[in-house]
Amino acid sequence: MKTIVIANWKMHPETLPQALKLVGAYRPPRAGTLVVCPPAVFLPGLVSRFGRKMAFGAQDCFWAPAGAYTGEISPAQLQAAGARYVILGHSERRKYFAEDDKMVNRKLRAALAAGLTPVLCLGGGLAAEVSESKVKSVIQRQFNAAVDGLKSAKNLILVFEPAYAISTFGGQRVGADAVARMAENLRALAAARFGSRALSTLPVLYGGSVDGKTFAPYLAGGRIDGFLVGGASLRPNEFNRILRGV
Ligand code: PGA
Repeated sequence: MKTIVIANWKMHPETLPQALKLVGAYRPPRAGTLVVCPPAVFLPGLVSRFGRKMAFGAQDCFWAPAGAYTGEISPAQLQAAGARYVILGHSERRKYFAEDDKMVNRKLRAALAAGLTPVLCLGGGLAAEVSESKVKSVIQRQFNAAVDGLKSAKNLILVFEPAYAISTFGGQRVGADAVARMAENLRALAAARFGSRALSTLPVLYGGSVDGKTFAPYLAGGRIDGFLVGGASLRPNEFNRILRGV
């Protein structure tokens, strides 16, 4: 499976020229896939300049195809703006915007229907002392709810991203062994629901304070197919270290 590295810029930077400069400094990997998820307003400008060198995605979408939903953006609009991927169920959305499992499921099905590849984030709670078995059961609940109604895992990417590992929520380091166990657990959940083919075709990424110094051990065991990178993706030198290493 090709390694996938996804940059989640969150609400950065401020202007299109800054966004163009940031992407211009990236060195896409030869063998892997690079997906950049900027704020949606920058998608058309970035895609028209860099769309041949890398893929782009959004950080969220709404579930309805059109209508009176002030402030929302539909999957089809994102697709038309050049997005091919969309991050869904991120723990910041769950925390700050009260997104629940049902909403994530509706968004995921709408994204797939519009031809976008959902990047489904599955994490645990915020407390650093959360036990592995608790995280496992949260992930199981989030996964089963998010994929409810789906017939296959085609065009889906999973991310194990415990909230307490995200840099802005404390950035606790999670060991490579624990991440590998969680990735295996996610694969088993996917296989139980979609059949054993999912074991070899469904990418499982890791996210949470991944940077140029910390990424390598996660890849070493072969259980992780890439990364969702927040903070480090805003620092091109740092990010390029990851891109060089995958
Ligand atoms: P971080 O963010 O790499 O800054 O921890 C990752 C994410 O929130 O997707």
